[in-house]
Parts: sequence; structure tokens; C-alpha cells
Amino acid sequence: MDVPKPRILTARWGIPGSHTLAVAQEHGAYTALRKALTMAPADITAVVKASGLRGRGGAGFPTGTKWTFVPPEEKRGGKPVYLVCNADESEPGTFKDRYCIWNDPHMLIEGCVIAARAIGAKVAYIYLRGEFKYVKDRLDQALAEARAAGLVGKNILGSGVDVDVWTHQGAGAYICGEETALLSSLEGERGQPKLKPPFPAVEGAWRSPTIVNNVETLQAVTWIVEHGADAYKAIGTEKAPGTKLFCCSGNIRKPGVYELPLGYPMMELLNDECGGLLPGRSLKAVIPGGSSVPIMTPAEVARATMDYESINEVSGSYLGSGGFIVMDDRTDLVDALANLLRFYAHESCGQCTPCREGCGWMYSILTRLRDGEATEADIRVLRDLANNIHSRTICFFGASAAMPVQSFLKKFPEEFFARAGVGVPDDWRPAASAK
Ligand SMILES: Cc1cc2nc3c(=O)[nH]c(=O)nc-3n(C[C@H](O)[C@H](O)[C@H](O)COP(=O)(O)O)c2cc1C
Ligand code: SF4
Repeated sequence: MDVPKPRILTARWGIPGSHTLAVAQEHGAYTALRKALTMAPADITAVVKASGLRGRGGAGFPTGTKWTFVPPEEKRGGKPVYLVCNADESEPGTFKDRYCIWNDPHMLIEGCVIAARAIGAKVAYIYLRGEFKYVKDRLDQALAEARAAGLVGKNILGSGVDVDVWTHQGAGAYICGEETALLSSLEGERGQPKLKPPFPAVEGAWRSPTIVNNVETLQAVTWIVEHGADAYKAIGTEKAPGTKLFCCSGNIRKPGVYELPLGYPMMELLNDECGGLLPGRSLKAVIPGGSSVPIMTPAEVARATMDYESINEVSGSYLGSGGFIVMDDRTDLVDALANLLRFYAHESCGQCTPCREGCGWMYSILTRLRDGEATEADIRVLRDLANNIHSRTICFFGASAAMPVQSFLKKFPEEFFARAGVGVPDDWRPAASAK
């Protein structure tokens, strides 16, 4: 597409030694922090709010607005405020945050210090997925360099501002990416979600106000503070400004992480950036935002652009965390869904009966279907299970497991009923509840 493709988050990727302080600073790192140290905290929040930045962890909630939910000092009863960076990244199909940290750890550290200053936090934690030991080692090295240079810690660059940043390694549980489970795990408790409200911004880590933001979100904050809200809003769409990192995988020629302006046509992402399908193949389906979001048909893909609004309007799906999974005509969707449900059944934290029992049940029906041992009635039970899990659980994991089932069954029923040896029943389509 003939639109500018500015590299905001990936500007230093590919520069040899970009993870070291010397090279990162040579290419502009910590310019935003120097500017932020001269700004009042409320002014930093105002810039981020005006930029229209929306959280990149999946839900797309406006970042600046979230920061304003932290109660003012006089209403905090002496409690500290915490910033927590969510680097858990376990959603199947999503693999951007590890690249962000690996290629440019200083951009994240800078974003953490700026965001912490904006919300009044003196401590920021970066919670990393258990498997990211190699990423944590590189980040710890960058943190040590930043601390030694006075960019992190007490009296940053002589400004009187104190912000320390610590890394914390999880134990490899997908549910610890959910913010309340993450905070429990950070506290040393079992990583299980809590009912909201209260939201973490009001009552989070150690019952203190806590802002949880994704890695990509905090890196975008760095760029926004340096370049201003208007420059950010000049990229992307009106409701979804800026760039987004898309994690492209599946049956494509060039898998990888691509930074593009929001609103980029989905078909062009597939054909131009990803190099198109493999020779002689045709498109069967796309999961546009990580494994938890509804699947899209080729007709929907042709009409959608890569932003929150378009994907939802065209297909009922979501941009999510940007995990763009492409499936060609060879993909067995029954097998693919069974594989997804194996993941959800394994990762359910087990607190809620619909999720704990339902995910295992859905997985067992799907394995029987895959093996040609299920009936038409089983497919109806499968849909009922998904409909009864969605919105009936403590956290959004339940919906995340239900939506793939609902959407696969609604959009590709032929494949599922064929495995039960029957055609799609006449009453099937109107009754399907997924969009
Ligand atoms: C089951 C589940 C898993 C999640 N995993 C992640 C994750 O790995 N990384 C992430 O940033 N957000 C994840 N989230 C979203 C977080 O709860 C939270 O909304 C996000 O970290 C907020 O950051 P943002 O506002 O910058 O997007 C997950 C949510 C759910 C329900
Ligand atoms: S929905 Fe699932 S993962 Fe979330 S709290 Fe309930 S049982 Fe745990």
C-alpha cells in the first residue's frame, strides 16, 4: 500500500549492538526521558492521552485514560503506586514483545521510567514469561548499564526523580498474562485471576494502585513523549493512531514481526509484507489477533483493515495482541481447533467451573471429532459448552477459549459436520451465537 510505513518501535532493530546503552544512545535512546524529566507528571499523562495510544496487550484500552484512574495522592492513604510491565506474552501466535526487548531493551526501560514518573510510581516491575530467561538476561544487562549511567534509580540524571526498575520471571503459566493473575504471581502467590472491580489501577500489587501496561504500549509511550501527540496521531486511523507490531505466522512465505500503521489493509499485509501464500495454495482462514479471537473467512479478510474497529465490524473478531495466523487450504480446521483447545484445557487456572470443566470437555469432544468418533449431537454440545463458558467466568480466559470454538463452528460448519459423517443441519446457522 502506498502509505508511509514509519518505524517507530523498530527503528533500532537490526543495528549491531542496539541492545547496548552506547549504541542505543547513539541512536536517540533516553532523549524522551530527558524531556519527560522536565515535564510535570500530569503533562506526560496529558500527552499520552492526547496521542490516542491504546494498550497493545490485547484489549486496546486507552493508555492515558487508564493512567488517570490512579487515585490522587491524598486518597491513597499513604500507599505507593506501582508500574508493572506485562512481558508475559504467552498467547499462541503472538511473539512481538520478546523481539522488542531483545532488539531494544533501552526503549522499554525508558518507557517504564517515563510512565512511572507520570503515575507517581517510584518502582516499576517488568514481569517476564518464565520461558524468557534469555530475554531477561539481556534486559537485566541493559538495566545494569542504565542504572550505572544514572538513567534508572535514585535522583535520575540529577533531577530529583527516583524510579527503580526490576525484572521478575514468571513460571511459564499463560494465565499469568492476565493482569490480576500476574500481580498475584508477582506478590509470590498462586497466579490466579481476581474478580474486577477493583481494577489494578485502584487496588493492584500489594493492594496499592498499580498500572499494568504491555511492553509495546510502554515503548510507544517513549516515542510519543519525544515526538508529541500530533506526530503520533498523524499515523494510523482516527480511532486507532500509531503503528502496531503484527506477528505473522502460519502458511505464508515470510513469517515475522512487521511494524505497520494501524488501518493497513489485511490483504496487503498478507500479500506484500508476508510475501503471500505458499505456491499453489489458496487462503482458507485467518486468525487476526492471537489464538483467543474469532477466526475470519477469506471474504472477511478481503474487506478488513488492521485496526480495532474494522476487524470487529467486518467479522466480529478482534485485533487482540496482533498475532496474525494464516491458514491455507491444506489446514484441517477440526485438528487446528482441537490443538487450540488442548492449550486452553491445559492452561485454565481451574477457579471457575465453566472454564475448568468446559475447556477439558470441549477438548475431549474435539479430539473425538478429529478421530472420526463424534456425532452430530456432540457438535451441538460443543457449541452449547462454548456459549455457556463465555461471559460466565472470573476472567476473560473463558471467553478466550470459547470464541475460537464459536467462530470456527459458525463460519466453517461443513468441516465439522463432515467429520461426524453428516451435512450441516438446516437449523444450524441461524442459531449460532458467535458473530
Ligand atoms: C488470559 C489472558 C492472558 C493475557 N495475556 C497477556 C499477555 O501475555 N501480555 C499482555 O500484555 N497482556 C495480556 N493480557 C491482557 C492483560 O490482562 C492487560 O489487559 C494488559 O497487560 C494491559 O496492558 P495494555 O493496557 O498496555 O494493553 C491477557 C489477558 C487475558 C485475559
Ligand atoms: S476463567 Fe478460567 S482461567 Fe480465568 S479465573 Fe476462571 S478458571 Fe481461571
